[in-house]
Amino acid sequence: MKRLICVIGNKGGTGKTSITHMLCHGFGLLGMRSIAVLTDAAREPLSRGDRRYTPLDGRTPDKLEKIIAKLDSMPEWLGVIDGGGNRPEMDHQFYEMSGLALLPFRDSHEDIRTVRNDLEVFPRAYGIPSQWPTNPWQQMAAERTLDELMQDFRPRLLEPVYSVSASKLLLQTDAPSSMPTMLNNVCRGLARQVLDRLKIPEHG
Ligand SMILES: Nc1ncnc2c1ncn2[C@@H]1O[C@H](COP(=O)(O)OP(=O)(O)OP(=O)(O)O)[C@@H](O)[C@H]1O
Ligand SMILES: [Mg+2]
Repeated sequence: MKRLICVIGNKGGTGKTSITHMLCHGFGLLGMRSIAVLTDAAREPLSRGDRRYTPLDGRTPDKLEKIIAKLDSMPEWLGVIDGGGNRPEMDHQFYEMSGLALLPFRDSHEDIRTVRNDLEVFPRAYGIPSQWPTNPWQQMAAERTLDELMQDFRPRLLEPVYSVSASKLLLQTDAPSSMPTMLNNVCRGLARQVLDRLKIPEHG
């Protein structure tokens, strides 16, 4: 499914859930409708409330199947699957059905080691630097780490998703209706790069 994106990867705490919601929020800001699909049994479902996208509970196989079937029948909608760490079989399943797979990783040697392995296992997937430093000095150091440790994988990395503390507002059960400009800008940027990779025109 071209309009299905999965956010996966074997390591926990890399930003999968945050990126899923930031991406959907970004789609909403661009005037596009989307569903954020929860698959992680350890998380509670979030309410739609005033969000610009629809969070849905896909924690059981039959719920997930229904969501995918529904998405298939609504060609103008985008879907984003929030994977959970340490579930390689499910990651494979999500990867196979998605038009784009994202592998978030933070600025740490451990995350980078894991994502290199995932990039090998999932040859169509893109790595996406997550919670990336905004301080110029830290950013330079992070860039150097990428140069050192990513080398041949550099062409398969998307632009970083910067650290924005307001991102946690999107993970509240009831998200506030209006979000800080900084968060909106990061989310819009993320949504644009994903649309670009999917070759889907904005508002298309
Ligand atoms: N861009 C960001 N800016 C600031 N904080 C972030 C960002 N992305 C993630 N975080 C924070 O990092 C922590 C882990 O993020 P998140 O829950 O999205 O990771 P995850 O990969 O879904 O974890 P899990 O493997 O447990 O599902 C959370 O506290 C989240 O608020
Ligand atoms: Mg998560």
